[in-house]
Amino acid sequence: MKVMVVGGGGREHAIIKKIKKNEKVSQIFALPGNGGMSEDATLVDIGAKDINGIVKFAVENKVDFAVVAPDDPLVLGAVDALNAVGIKCFGPTKDAAIIEGSKAFSKNLMKKYGIPTAEFEIFDNAEDALKYLDTAPIPTVVKADGLALGKGVIIANTRDEAKNAVKSIMEDKIFGESGNNIVIEEFLTGPEVSVLSFTDGKTIIPMISSMDHKRALDNDEGLNTGGMGTVAPNPYYTADIAKECMEKIFIPTVNAMKAENRTFKGCLYFGLMLTPKGPKVIEYNCRFGDPETQVVLPLLESDLLDIMLAVADEKLTEDMVRFSDKYSCCVVMASNGYPVKYESGYKISVDDGFNDELYIAGAKIKDGELVTAGGRVLGVTAVEDTLESAINKAYSSVKKIHFDNAFYRSDIGAKALAACSEEK
Ligand code: AMP
Ligand code: GLY
Repeated sequence: MKVMVVGGGGREHAIIKKIKKNEKVSQIFALPGNGGMSEDATLVDIGAKDINGIVKFAVENKVDFAVVAPDDPLVLGAVDALNAVGIKCFGPTKDAAIIEGSKAFSKNLMKKYGIPTAEFEIFDNAEDALKYLDTAPIPTVVKADGLALGKGVIIANTRDEAKNAVKSIMEDKIFGESGNNIVIEEFLTGPEVSVLSFTDGKTIIPMISSMDHKRALDNDEGLNTGGMGTVAPNPYYTADIAKECMEKIFIPTVNAMKAENRTFKGCLYFGLMLTPKGPKVIEYNCRFGDPETQVVLPLLESDLLDIMLAVADEKLTEDMVRFSDKYSCCVVMASNGYPVKYESGYKISVDDGFNDELYIAGAKIKDGELVTAGGRVLGVTAVEDTLESAINKAYSSVKKIHFDNAFYRSDIGAKALAACSEEK
């Protein structure tokens, strides 16, 4: 079987490493992938947003199955275009990917179907939004409607900050067309949990929960990033909370999408906040999270490709998805200056050589050597019997990886570990 994975970061590397384990697989193409994956996949120089290029390549190379991993191609309709030429895919169609592509859509969906989320108002012009902010409760959260590389959310602690956010999104268009509409919502508090799930549109099977670390610096300081590290499972996500989420959020979301004629098939990601009033949805993503995938998939004992095929064929059943009861931790090593400005092109070396726990995100091969080529360069994952040993092992592996200008957070998992000891 020839499998094609669209995307090129650490998440895609983790997906590829799992898919490779299936005996049916004869070849894996990564479009575009990155230089750090060349041992695991055939790299194809076609960008993840080049839908025509992706379809043409898939047809010419007789690809049997495609996994579309990033948000952009999903929202642009890559799955629809591949399905139209008879190629089976893992990932939602454009109609369903809107659950991530438009926050206004997802907020209205939750309101209509009674799915718990922050109170909100939607605006299509700055004037009304600014007027609303004269009396809105503060702090408040201002969100660009469309995709904004994970940066479209501004938490405003004062009225002025909130108004400036509205002006920069709607008037200065710092996120382009994504800021044509905005959502202004209630500021919630509580621990955050990421839950990825497999769904074929009828059945939904949550994966193991995880905790992302979105800020660039230790103690959750600094700017928001794509994610600087993760641990799984998330200790705040107890069995009781999981049951509540299944009943009040996961199943209602899948059913709501079906009722709207937007059946969602693929990985549906729930960004949750465990507020004093119960779990609420902060955001939906229409795809695997990055770097959540790098801690969740290493704990998956079942075969990933078989699950993905079952999702595509709408034959997903509970017994297909089994996770180990171990713990995992992924520490992201980035280029100093990320997420703003950073230098690239530095040689990456690993003391014991590259191994299966290394997920390369931003690297390329130059003159036969692997060099840095992105903000987030790689993620190092460790799987162990306890959270503490997973964290320790991930950090001891980090020490063996070298490239100039490397930086990483030194407290990935610390909060989770503290929460575990509180429980005892
Ligand atoms: P998002 O891109 O929607 O995941 O938002 C990015 C981050 O902003 C989230 O992970 C939260 O930490 C924070 N955030 C988003 N919405 C809210 C909210 N309503 N209340 C408090 N924090 C929020
Ligand atoms: N790590 C957050 C995301 O993938 O959206």
